[in-house]
Amino acid sequence: MNILVTGGAGYIGSHTVKQLIDVGHQVVVLDNFYSGHRWAVDPAATLVEGDIADSNKVDQLLKTHRIDSVIHFAGYIVVPESVSDPFKYYENNVVGSLRLIRACEQNNVARFVFSSSAAVYGLPDAEQVKESAGLKPINPYGNSKLITEMTLNDVSFAYQSQKTPFNFVALRYFNAAGAQVAGNLGQATPEATHLIKVACEAATGKRDQMKLFGTDYNTPDGSCVRDYIHVEDLASAHLKALEYLADGGKSLRLNCGYGKGYSVKDVVAMVKKVSGVDFTAIEADRRPGDPPSLIADNTKIKNLLGWIPQNDDLELICRTAFKWEQAWQARQQKSR
Ligand code: UFG
Repeated sequence: MNILVTGGAGYIGSHTVKQLIDVGHQVVVLDNFYSGHRWAVDPAATLVEGDIADSNKVDQLLKTHRIDSVIHFAGYIVVPESVSDPFKYYENNVVGSLRLIRACEQNNVARFVFSSSAAVYGLPDAEQVKESAGLKPINPYGNSKLITEMTLNDVSFAYQSQKTPFNFVALRYFNAAGAQVAGNLGQATPEATHLIKVACEAATGKRDQMKLFGTDYNTPDGSCVRDYIHVEDLASAHLKALEYLADGGKSLRLNCGYGKGYSVKDVVAMVKKVSGVDFTAIEADRRPGDPPSLIADNTKIKNLLGWIPQNDDLELICRTAFKWEQAWQARQQKSR
């Protein structure tokens, strides 16, 4: 396949590009380097600097490289930032995605895989949330993902009977975490806010301490519970989604998680274990926009895509994240 990967220089994007190249696809990466890095893109991919909202550039790319499939990662992902700066999220995640989808439809792109999020569920009632659950996001980030899913659904429906029908898979990510087991890729986002990354920065001493945001939730230990999924398993789900669409599969929305929850306190304890460092984690107020618990029911993705996770292990997730953090900081120091 000829695949355009938006945000392919970012954390999940770069791991996915590597796997696409390894199985022989032609890959073009479009990234504006807001949080991505050139070094993270496999050299066998064509790397283009640019923005998804630049319709002329996207149109040209789709034509020049005869793109038949798109994987759309490029987007802002920080929940509390979306609460304080909703324009930023609606502008890029909604308007930018809309322009990209329009360009794809106009250029006969047949397959589209979208980085959606468990944030579309808001506050689920069930312990393990199914795709059929109510969609009531509680923050602008979740809204922006849901609006894009709805756009894809409507576009896919409207153009069903044309020569090249447009089909999509929206993967609703739970909490992406960890780093490539081989050790060459990982999360290199500046000023990261994600729990495992923050805990690893505390373990290396880059931070003096970290905060546990909210310890009075109605959860077993009072801290929030999340379903942490290793980034390489998340990447492989994108390949499975493309194969499914190439085999004639119809549009789908799928949870992408392991179906297991760990609390913030569990994660911090695990990072302390794998690093051997007893860093300071202080109890702090709740963070706006955080649901108490989010765990996937992953029956659908396993059954429909035949997705088989390889790294379903919190210790491996934290160990690879910590090793990567050490290597990444050493690399940054060298380049100073
Ligand atoms: N947390 C802390 N201290 C920190 C950082 C995070 O206690 O320094 C807590 C948060 O309050 C939350 C949990 O750790 O309870 C996880 O927070 P993250 O920021 O790591 O991740 P989120 O759950 O907020 O969001 C992530 C992705 C979203 C996705 C969501 C789905 O960023 O894209 O998971 O579960 F939608």
